[in-house]
Parts: sequence; structure tokens; C-alpha cells
Amino acid sequence: MATISPRTVLVLGGGSDIGAACVAALAGHGTRDVVLAARRPDEAVRTVTDTLGIDPQLDGERDGPTTAGPRVHGLEWDALDTAATGPLLDRVVERWGLPDVVIVAVGRLGHHAGLGLGPDEVDTMVRTNFAGPAAALSCLADRLADGSGTERAVVVLSSVAGVRTRRSNFVYGSSKAGIDAFALGLGDALAGSGVRVLVVRPGFVRSSMTEGLDPAPFATDPDTVGRSVSRAVLGGRSGVVSVPGVLGPLFAVLRVLPRPLWRRIAGDR
Ligand SMILES: NC(=O)c1ccc[n+]([C@@H]2O[C@H](COP(=O)([O-])OP(=O)(O)OC[C@H]3O[C@@H](n4cnc5c(N)ncnc54)[C@H](OP(=O)(O)O)[C@@H]3O)[C@@H](O)[C@H]2O)c1
Repeated sequence: MATISPRTVLVLGGGSDIGAACVAALAGHGTRDVVLAARRPDEAVRTVTDTLGIDPQLDGERDGPTTAGPRVHGLEWDALDTAATGPLLDRVVERWGLPDVVIVAVGRLGHHAGLGLGPDEVDTMVRTNFAGPAAALSCLADRLADGSGTERAVVVLSSVAGVRTRRSNFVYGSSKAGIDAFALGLGDALAGSGVRVLVVRPGFVRSSMTEGLDPAPFATDPDTVGRSVSRAVLGGRSGVVSVPGVLGPLFAVLRVLPRPLWRRIAGDR
């Protein structure tokens, strides 16, 4: 059994609703500092402090963990600027030490991420969901596996959309498949180092990303994903976690269905 204590939690893509719910679910287990790396750090801090139910104004002033919850810090970061990730992580380590838990929550959906998407949009989608986070994961691995054997967790938000791509959103789905495979391979490469990589595959989650979309079957909410992530991290799990759990066995079957049948089942959603 692992002994991860989530004292410092770093979220890449810090404004994410699911990321905020993961932070909230971990916070009661001894979190002192939450660092949010985001394009809009002030908004990210607001999202997370709202989710935690704490006053963002107090953050700079509290100098230790209090009953009011962890301190929440925002740093500017863009996943597409791969050269910026190393210096960002060095800043985090210098100020707060190596994070115990890192949540990679960067993502871009696009409501019809399939046929007809222009080359620039495809490029942005692939770089946001795959290339940027993959580059960040490499930087993280270099720093987290420091030879001390200390238990740490890296949580990568993948998606069932990457398990089998659908015609309506294969650009998004394939980019999530890329980061999913990268993270699983990284997890194998880090086995024995103390750093565990957890690949989380939610189905449809009601968040900012899916606003205005009709929920898919087995739709869930950020809090449910947060609780699953917290349980898995604190329980020392690595590998794949599907949310809700039923999607794991379901997609194991769906991914091997004959293609014409899959096209019919997936339809246009
Ligand atoms: N919602 C779902 O149904 C669902 C299902 C399965 C998997 N997921 C995955 O879960 C993760 C979190 O999604 P969510 O539902 O919490 O949606 P969300 O609230 O929209 O979070 C996505 C975050 O990614 C950030 N981001 C986008 N491009 C970025 C960039 N270039 N650099 C830095 N940050 C960037 C966004 O920041 P801005 O506000 O600056 O755009 C946003 O804060 C994503 O990886 C998503 O693919 C979501």
C-alpha cells in the first residue's frame, strides 16, 4: 500500500472543473499548498477556492495550513509553450518543493471535433490534448523521479473518447488516445521509482467543457471524478481508472465491435 500524503498538489490546466474537484477531494487529507498552472491563473484560483469554499483573499496571508483549508496559488502557464514548462516546474519546486500529486487537466474538446475541422484547429487540438501535456509530463518525470523513492502520483485526465474514436469527434478522441498511451508508457518507465501514473478515463462529465451538449449515457459530474481520483491516489493505484467504473468493461467490449456496428452505435454523438 502506498503512503502518499498530498501536501502539495500541482494542477496543470489549473482552471479545470474536474481538476478543482480532484483538489477538493484530496484537500481533507493534509493538503497545505495547491498550485494552479493556468492560462488565466486568477480565474483558476477563483474556481478552486469556490470549489473548496474558502476565501481567495486570505491566500497570500496565511502562512501555514489552517482549518480554513489549503493555500491556493496561481501561476501563468500555457501548455502550448513547451519551453515554459521546465522553468515553471523549477519555480514550483523552489517555492513549494516537489509536488506530491500532479494533476494534468489541460484539455480542449471542440463541439464537432471531426470531419471539417480545419488544419489549424486540428493542430491546436493535438497540441493542447497531446503534444503539450506530453512535453510537460516528460519535464515532470525528470524532476519527480529524484532517486529518493518518495511516493508521488501523477494523474492524467484522459477520456473514454480515446478508447475508441467516434466519427463525430475523432480529432479530440485521437488526441486523448495519444496522451493516454504516452502516460501509460511513462507509468511503466517510472515503475519502481515511487512515482505512480494514474490514467483517468471519464465518460461525459457535466463541466465547462461540455456546456450546452446533451449528456451521453453514464454522464457524471466533476465531484464524482474527483472522489474516484482521490480514492485511487490515496490507495496507491496506478494504471487506468474509468469513471464511472462500468465504462471500463463496457468500452473493452465496444472497442472490439465490428466497425459498421460501432458506427451505428456511436451515431453522431
Ligand atoms: N468534461 C468531460 O466530459 C470530460 C470527459 C473526459 C475527459 N475530460 C478531460 O478532463 C480534463 C478536464 O476537463 P474539464 O471537464 O474540467 O474541462 P474544463 O473545465 O474546460 O478544463 C479544461 C482546462 O484546460 C485548460 N486549457 C486549455 N488549453 C490550455 C492551454 N493551452 N494551456 C493551459 N491550459 C489550457 C482550460 O483553460 P482555459 O480556461 O484557459 O481554456 C481549462 O481550464 C480535460 O483533459 C478533458 O479532456 C473531460
